[in-house]
Amino acid sequence: MRTILVGCGGISNSWLTAAQEIGGIEFVALVDLDKEAARAQAEKYGLEAPAYDDLDAALSDTKPEIAFDCTIPAAHAMVDTQCLRAGCHVLVEKPLADSMAAAREVVATAAEVGRTHAVLQNRRYNPEIVRYRDALELSELGSIHTLYGDFFVPAHFGGFRAEMDHVLLLDMAIHTFDEARFLLGARPSRVSCHEWNPPGSWYTHGASAIVTAEMSDGSVFNYRGSWCAEGHMTSWEAEWRAIGTWGSALWDGHSQVDAERVTDPEPANGGDLVREAVGVRIPERESMRFTGHAGCIEEFVRTVRSGETPMTVSSDNYYSLAMSLCAVESAEQQRPVEVEQL
Ligand SMILES: NC(=O)c1ccc[n+]([C@@H]2O[C@H](COP(=O)([O-])OP(=O)(O)OC[C@H]3O[C@@H](n4cnc5c(N)ncnc54)[C@H](O)[C@@H]3O)[C@@H](O)[C@H]2O)c1
Repeated sequence: MRTILVGCGGISNSWLTAAQEIGGIEFVALVDLDKEAARAQAEKYGLEAPAYDDLDAALSDTKPEIAFDCTIPAAHAMVDTQCLRAGCHVLVEKPLADSMAAAREVVATAAEVGRTHAVLQNRRYNPEIVRYRDALELSELGSIHTLYGDFFVPAHFGGFRAEMDHVLLLDMAIHTFDEARFLLGARPSRVSCHEWNPPGSWYTHGASAIVTAEMSDGSVFNYRGSWCAEGHMTSWEAEWRAIGTWGSALWDGHSQVDAERVTDPEPANGGDLVREAVGVRIPERESMRFTGHAGCIEEFVRTVRSGETPMTVSSDNYYSLAMSLCAVESAEQQRPVEVEQL
């Protein structure tokens, strides 16, 4: 499909590599405020697409069907409404936008012009999280009412992140929040957050946070995270515990998924103080052909062709962004925030 790539910085490498892996994606233009960056990516990936520093000119010269947006968060809404109005279906890097108002405008524009707008959330296309979600759907565990996600990664990035306000919540937590929504199949309704910058932090603001989200299905999600926690690092995908009425399931964020259920949920005479639990078999899955960035991009292109809706469509991804921005609001106001109010 005739495709334009806007934003040719670091993450565009993951997109261009994925596009080559998937096949059938023809780049007709590469755009960046820095035209040299666009030219360099075209050369690196052997593309004949011309480089532009003017999005308007690129859209009218090349008439693309699809736009991939890899610009910075503050530019997403502006770039995407322009591409949608030029007739493109758009897939944008996370986050959907940098404010709820901007996100609403993008979702409304996509509906108005009848084009698909979706967000790249690569962690949903990880075979292990898919297997973990299978575990949470096993009837042996009963219904899942509580989910814990722990993210402790002592990342020394330097650069803009070192100076950024709410660095964990705005730069990273959206991934873990979107994973939680994928696992629970629910939206947040109310979010509480305590955020702080620990002593010795190499960030200026908000390197650690604890967030509790009350979800639309009555379940509760609890997040503990830090960019500033040396030793015993978790997976970048976070470390998970889900509790159902009859059992629990763990995922270490790597390849280990485990579940246990009580042998007798309703024992005669009340049973023992702590009831016996046994392992639950989690079915194996066929391996996924495309994972991570490639998984999300392949689904987007396939659903645009078929007219179906991709899993990460923005009208739904809006609620993952809402979780991050409500957490920021809650930390600033020091009170819980209703998602509907934002
Ligand atoms: N999914 C992931 O795991 C993951 C990882 C890293 C970054 N990201 C996301 O990818 C996006 C880009 O991050 P990055 O690390 O590549 O940043 P970057 O700064 O390396 O690159 C951004 C590029 O966009 C260009 N740009 C900015 N505004 C533009 C505009 N209006 N029009 C055209 N070009 C414009 C810049 O000149 C720059 O070349 C961000 O939204 C970030 O959150 C996602």
